[in-house]
Amino acid sequence: MTSEKSSIIIAIDGPAASGKGTLAKRLANFYGFAHLDTGILYRGVGYLVLAKGKEPRDEAAAAEVARNFSLEQFHEADIRTAEVARAASLVAAMPEVRAALLDFQRHFAHNPPAGFTGAVLDGRDIGTIVCPEALIKFYITASPEVRAERRWLELRLSSPGISVEQVLDDLKRRDARDSGRDAAPLRPAPEAELIDTSHLTADEVFARAQRLVDNRLKAA
Ligand code: CDP
Repeated sequence: MTSEKSSIIIAIDGPAASGKGTLAKRLANFYGFAHLDTGILYRGVGYLVLAKGKEPRDEAAAAEVARNFSLEQFHEADIRTAEVARAASLVAAMPEVRAALLDFQRHFAHNPPAGFTGAVLDGRDIGTIVCPEALIKFYITASPEVRAERRWLELRLSSPGISVEQVLDDLKRRDARDSGRDAAPLRPAPEAELIDTSHLTADEVFARAQRLVDNRLKAA
């Protein structure tokens, strides 16, 4: 387990394609903090289960992959498909999988790689479970239609022929699974700063978040 508590932690949660990853990267760059997109961990487990020829609903297979997990086992391009996103949200509902990935995330938050004085983590349960002690927590959201449009723009290159309606359908199903599961469901921490990005540019979201972080840093 982690014992050092000196790192400054920014926790960002929200549903798929809400803009949380974009905000996390920009805040990390601005403050010189390390960034961990925790979705990569669940996508990685989902991908590796599929690569073994197993079903993502196979709890024993998913738990074994999660226990032996490392980021070196796959490439970024492997995990950015709609099929892997679906597998990720299935394995992410399994308590054993979540438990196996928890230490990695906490260790990263409290011991960011050399040269970084803090860490930005984005996911579904960072403010609620992984880092409840974070300096500041954001909950980033947007309407399902806006999110589907954004995700479609990303996916249409790797999945030609995919329609916005299909993407919307997929997102809604995944939102329902992520919010409805017993293990670490997607929901804002009570003290989280809520930002709805439906009608905001990435610059506007960043400016708003930066002001809030600066205030919190001054008060700390
Ligand atoms: O990029 P997108 O928002 O579509 O998804 P992601 O952040 O890459 O996460 C993929 C899936 O992993 C989500 O649908 C969640 O089920 C799961 N996840 C989670 O349960 N907890 C996290 N901290 C991060 C992701």
